[in-house]
Amino acid sequence: MQFDVFTLIPEAVQAYLASSILGRAQARGLIRIRLHNPRDYTHDRHRTTDDVPYGGGGSMVMKPEPIFEAVEAVLGDEIGSVPVILLTPQGRVFDQPLAAGLAAYPRLALVCGRYEGVDERVRQHLASLEISIGDYVLTGGEIPALAIIDAITRLLPGVLGDADGAADDSHAAGLLEYPHYTRPAEFRGWAVPDVLTSGDHGKIAGWRREQSLRRTLERRPDLLGRDELTAAERRLLDRLKEQALGKPSESDG
Ligand code: ADE
Repeated sequence: MQFDVFTLIPEAVQAYLASSILGRAQARGLIRIRLHNPRDYTHDRHRTTDDVPYGGGGSMVMKPEPIFEAVEAVLGDEIGSVPVILLTPQGRVFDQPLAAGLAAYPRLALVCGRYEGVDERVRQHLASLEISIGDYVLTGGEIPALAIIDAITRLLPGVLGDADGAADDSHAAGLLEYPHYTRPAEFRGWAVPDVLTSGDHGKIAGWRREQSLRRTLERRPDLLGRDELTAAERRLLDRLKEQALGKPSESDG
C-alpha cells in the first residue's frame, strides 16, 4: 500500500511516521509513505500557497494551483484510479468500516488543508472523497491524515505480529473491546478476574464477549445496532439492558 501525503509541513508529519509500527511497516516494505509539499509546485518568488478570500473575510485560503499541480505530478497516469482524499471537518466521518474499505486500495492520496480552508475547486474537481476525523476543528489535515494512515496500516496483512491482531480491536466487530490484564495477578490489592487465570478458554471467550457487550451498551449504545449478534448474545444484551434500567429480567428467575 502506498500513501502520498500532500502537506505544507512535511517535517511535522515525518517524525510520527518513522516511529513504532508505522516505521517498521515501512522498513519491511508493507507500506510506502511519500510526503509532498505543494509549496514545491509554486512558481512565484515567494512560493505562495495561500491568498485572501474572494468576497472578503479574515482568513487566508489555500490556492488551488499548487495543490492541483502537486497531485497531478505525483499521481501521473494514476490520477483517475487513486482515491484523492481531502481532509476536512466537512467530510464523511471516519470510522472502522471506512478504514477497512480504504485498506483494499493499493494507493491513496491524502491532501491536508491548512489555514481556514482550501479553494472550493479542489473539492469539486480534484478530491474524490472528503473525510473528517470527528466533529471538531483542527488547524490542519495533518493529524487526520496520520490517524487515517495509522488505522489503515494496522489492518494490512503482516503489519501486526499476530495473524488476526486487529480482529479483536474495539470497533473491529462493531463492538468495543473487552478489558485487558497482564501480570501481576494482584496489584495494590486489585486482582485480575478469576476467569482469566482459570485456563478455561471457552469460559474466557464467553467472559470477553460479555464484557464487550456490556461496555458497548454502557459507553456506545449507538454501535449495537451494527453488530451481528447470536441469539444467546441478544438474550444477554436484553438482560444487561434490563439490569441497567433496574428491572428484573425473566432469566433472573
Ligand atoms: N481539518 C481540520 N479539522 C479536521 C477534522 N476534524 N477532520 C479532518 N480534517 C480536518
